[in-house]
Amino acid sequence: MSKLWSDYQCKDLTLKNRIVMAPMCMFCAKDGTAQDWHLIHYASRAVGGVGLILVEATGVESRGRITDQDLGIWRDDHIDMLKKIVSACKQNGAKIGIQLAHAGRKSDVLSEDSIAPSQIAFSDAYRTPKKMTIQDIKTVVKAFRDAAKRADMAGFDVIELHAAHGYLISEYLSPLTNHRTDEYGGTIENRVRFLKEILQEISSVWPQNKPIIVRVSAEDYAEDGNHAQDLATMLSLIKADGIDLVNVSSGGVVNVNPKAYPGYQVKFAEIIRETTSLPVITGGLISSPQLAEEILHNDRADLVFIGRELLRDPYWPLHAAKELKDDIVWPKQYERSKN
Ligand SMILES: Cc1cc2nc3c(=O)[nH]c(=O)nc-3n(C[C@H](O)[C@H](O)[C@H](O)COP(=O)(O)O)c2cc1C
Repeated sequence: MSKLWSDYQCKDLTLKNRIVMAPMCMFCAKDGTAQDWHLIHYASRAVGGVGLILVEATGVESRGRITDQDLGIWRDDHIDMLKKIVSACKQNGAKIGIQLAHAGRKSDVLSEDSIAPSQIAFSDAYRTPKKMTIQDIKTVVKAFRDAAKRADMAGFDVIELHAAHGYLISEYLSPLTNHRTDEYGGTIENRVRFLKEILQEISSVWPQNKPIIVRVSAEDYAEDGNHAQDLATMLSLIKADGIDLVNVSSGGVVNVNPKAYPGYQVKFAEIIRETTSLPVITGGLISSPQLAEEILHNDRADLVFIGRELLRDPYWPLHAAKELKDDIVWPKQYERSKN
């Protein structure tokens, strides 16, 4: 049997395989509330055999959404539909997490100000954000904590903190976007402080037996920006504050497009895994089951995320098993089509 189908344990969470559905915004929520689309979309991937589903970036504040159509978790009435999604995915054999997010300077919610560590716009197409005061920082940290409480009430197995792609937390981590001169800017210790405080607050309300994932951009693709080793140093400094797994992505901090090819981010994950001793999720342009298996089998990562390939094919895990000649359990309703 390929390693792709081996169990994975993290705290009280047991995954039936090593396949993680990458968080992907669907841009069709209404005032933050999930719709039938989300229920069908996520439950389909559970039926398709994904081990861990990560629900798309979900705003912890209204102004923390990328667009007006993003999911939100800043009000209690967002919980109900999320609970239904969680229940449908679990009934169909998957575990499910939610990505808690704040878009920072990349928010396009025009009815509210965008905020960031420093007053620097992402590009000419974006607004110049308001520089956050210490009170703003406290408000956002509390919003993450309240969101984590709601995520637990909805029944999620895992939280993923979105600290990647140039959104708010990531803006604090990178020297390209954080020009602060107070205790939240400058040194690596200072740039990681915002994330550390969020982790500490979340850990005070999120059950100890449930894991917390942090997703990072391990490479800014700019000489003066962060590189994998910088992220590894930051994560080592704060791992005791409640990080169980790192989801390693890259880019999005400044306006550059890296050359991407299948597995292009695996080397970053290896550096972070090696330096921090934390388990890692890797991915990026992976559609071949052989490549996913190579990464796991050669111990380059603990889990593999699949993004767009799962949009093209919700049943990718079932098809991957066939390609790897592994016999896995299919939903019993579909068994007659298995061979
Ligand atoms: C439609 C779409 C929406 C995305 N939304 C998010 C998101 O909400 N949060 C996030 O961390 N990454 C997001 N991403 C990035 C994916 O999680 C993933 O890292 C990226 O697509 C690369 O993996 P892939 O080549 O397997 O698709 C999104 C990507 C796509 C295509």
